[in-house]
Amino acid sequence: MLSANMNVMIKAARKAGRSLVKDFREVENLQVSVKGAGDFVSRADREAERIIKEELRGARPNYGWLGEETGEEAGEDPTRRWIVDPLDGTTNFLHGLPHWAISIALEHKGEIVAAVIFDPAKDEMFVAEKGGGAFMNDQRLRVSSRGKMIESIFATGVPFGGRGTLPATLQDLARLMPLTAGVRRWGAASLDLAYVAAGRYDGYWERGIFPWDVAAGILMVREAGGFAEGLREGDHVLESGRIVAANATIFDTFAKVIRARD
Ligand code: IPD
Ligand code: CA
Repeated sequence: MLSANMNVMIKAARKAGRSLVKDFREVENLQVSVKGAGDFVSRADREAERIIKEELRGARPNYGWLGEETGEEAGEDPTRRWIVDPLDGTTNFLHGLPHWAISIALEHKGEIVAAVIFDPAKDEMFVAEKGGGAFMNDQRLRVSSRGKMIESIFATGVPFGGRGTLPATLQDLARLMPLTAGVRRWGAASLDLAYVAAGRYDGYWERGIFPWDVAAGILMVREAGGFAEGLREGDHVLESGRIVAANATIFDTFAKVIRARD
């Protein structure tokens, strides 16, 4: 049984998803135009956040808000807030690549208690509630059980556009890649975590992420039996902006390689 909050979150994600799918079809056509699709995608992104905000705040007017596009707003209830990325994987969307998602998390007293990650292009709805498990389209999710690095694949985000975390990430890749079956950079952090929860990836790490990128995914991984922690042991993921996540079997070995630099 889904909680009332979860139903509100799913409804908001589906509604924003319909708007984004319509815009995505348009973006595919815009690839050949000289001006490109940049402004159009910014508008699509903002419109998706507007729809989600209207739905969530309409249903729960006293909760706080943290959204990628509109920032932070305190609510009457200081213990609860929505953390929302209306379009995670913006660069994929802009280039007509069908790998992007809507990420919605509910935080209560500093802890994520409910999460929705919706991939409209593949019609995959990932949901999780604290203590209630994680699901994808009603199918229970479990992290993989792989324990050998050489059989495992890992996802990450490689910084783009001159972000300062590039050298550290390249060093991570140099240490990690020889030990594994491969590393993927698919361009949507929320889906990277959802895929760890689904056992598709064995682990994921990234330096320089925002709370809205990973808030929902953290709960998804934990509820599927995995770990999602700060890059430095004891760090809070949302505050530090650095994350390492994996199935429970391989987490220590994997985290040791990633943490070797810090
Ligand atoms: C980005 C994506 C990407 C990750 C970046 C994020 P955006 O979010 O999740 O995979 O590597 O750190 O900022 O900009 O597409 O919403
Ligand atoms: Ca994002």
